[in-house]
Amino acid sequence: MILTNIRLSVRFRWTLCLTNQMVKRVKVSAPGKIILSGEHAVVYGCPALLSAVNKRLTITQWGDKKKISSDIPIGCGMGSSAAFAVASSALNIKLKGKKWDLEEINKEAYKMEKRQHGNPSGGDNTISTYGGFLWYRKESEQLKIFSPIRVKIRLPKFYIINTGKPYESTKDMILIAAELKERKPRRFENIINKIGIVTKSFLKYFTNEEKMVFSELIKENERLLEDLGVVSKSTAWLIRKIEKIGGAAKISGAGGRKLYSGILLVCHPDEEKLLNFAKDEHLNIFPIRLGEEGVKNEKTN
Ligand code: PMV
Repeated sequence: MILTNIRLSVRFRWTLCLTNQMVKRVKVSAPGKIILSGEHAVVYGCPALLSAVNKRLTITQWGDKKKISSDIPIGCGMGSSAAFAVASSALNIKLKGKKWDLEEINKEAYKMEKRQHGNPSGGDNTISTYGGFLWYRKESEQLKIFSPIRVKIRLPKFYIINTGKPYESTKDMILIAAELKERKPRRFENIINKIGIVTKSFLKYFTNEEKMVFSELIKENERLLEDLGVVSKSTAWLIRKIEKIGGAAKISGAGGRKLYSGILLVCHPDEEKLLNFAKDEHLNIFPIRLGEEGVKNEKTN
């Protein structure tokens, strides 16, 4: 009799354990990003300066149920697809009971990004994995160099204006740049080299190696992206208006040529003036914090 009870309680505990394991919640999150400088040029081996931002995508899984929530605008250059790839890769690692290994998470996320975007530089998934600020360079398919940047200045306040989801995909925009390379190789090379130089200036500004007027760097970068043909006429027009009221703005990410160009990274010394302008123009504007944490193994209750 006693023996049967013991056997029963052991079996009962086993069942409980299994049920607990089945409903165990696993939760991970990954941040969106902005490219401060170097988009498109980074595809051709130039450096890019990237930052993780305070917009995140979270995946929670329990049993066979999965919930994805995100406050990263989709398909607008804020790295929503990379955040999804990084969070999915991190979730797989957790579900398989493997070690939390950023290199492994990033590697798997890059594979997913390649399936979706064709020939991405790998910058988006790398910043979403590691977070903070990163100097990123793709030397070859096998060798991607990146280094965290310690920002040594007081950062200006940044805003994002979302001009809307471009009709073109990132892949289309990379092809648009590639067409210019084909048609006008000298002009293309000139633009790409200049973007490389501006990106270095951004780096020196952030590390306080050289004093610079940040808004001028943003403007210069934007002009070069317009020369590359990745900014629509209406977006360029909007950016000129922002400049006229004393601000600076650039597209961040692949851009868009037909009508919408995704997000703009905006700064202005007079916050009220910028917000009033955005209100009058019915723009979708929000503040953004840079240098945020990368992929996170979230606690569940
Ligand atoms: O728009 P996004 O977030 O997909 O950024 C693309 C940036 C490019 O430099 C155009 C492409 C890349 O893979 O780096």
